[in-house]
Amino acid sequence: MKQSVKLIAGNWKMNGLAASLGEVETLREALAAEPAACRVALCPPATLVHRLAGAVAGGGIEVGGQDCRAEASGAYTGGVSAEMLKDAGATLVILGHSERRQEFGESDLLVSSKAEAALRAGLSPIVCVGETLAQREAGEAVEVVRRQVMNSLPLALAGQAFAVAYEPVWAIGTGLTPTLEQIEEVHRAVRAAMIERLGLASAAAPILYGGSVKPENARDILAVPEVGGALVGGASLKAADFLGIIRGA
Ligand code: 13P
Repeated sequence: MKQSVKLIAGNWKMNGLAASLGEVETLREALAAEPAACRVALCPPATLVHRLAGAVAGGGIEVGGQDCRAEASGAYTGGVSAEMLKDAGATLVILGHSERRQEFGESDLLVSSKAEAALRAGLSPIVCVGETLAQREAGEAVEVVRRQVMNSLPLALAGQAFAVAYEPVWAIGTGLTPTLEQIEEVHRAVRAAMIERLGLASAAAPILYGGSVKPENARDILAVPEVGGALVGGASLKAADFLGIIRGA
């Protein structure tokens, strides 16, 4: 992954039915008419990975899962493995999203083992980190994020294709965003922690910003030093909004 080529990834979360593929077709046609200056990825729910991969085939849009188990297979009712996502057409997987850390109690250690599973299956992980509002207000944002990076990235990621996403929990789905200075401060800290953990081989892995990215703020955020792309929730559900963000990269 070259740092200069940004990655704009859409996280659909638990949204999307077969009918949503119409938005994907719109996006695909727009990017065929005017190619993106960045990498573009969509991470739909697991039920849509295969169909979405078929819908974007040859269109330059990458497909990712939103989570995977650390095990390849076995008696884990309801579980989806990295191998299954890969088999369905994914090349990426989001791991350690704050909604999973909060709702499912996922620890840094678990996220790290999931990242190892992704590599084993040939998927590029997008590992998410980010502080809560209480942690930011206590002045702990950089420290919290640094600890998450150090403990959530397995050493096996050194030299591999992967990304880190900085998503302040308080900015997700709220319309609130940190200032550009705050984004730069944390992204620089994430980069330093990545290099400390994995060496210079990780210097080119993009650090995405996530949390209330919209067409209106994307260009400014994407111009911040060390912002290598965006992880977009709500605004990735509509082709027009997602395109507005892609055009800002
Ligand atoms: P929103 O863009 O809806 O704030 O969500 C961000 C996010 O959680 C992406 O993973």
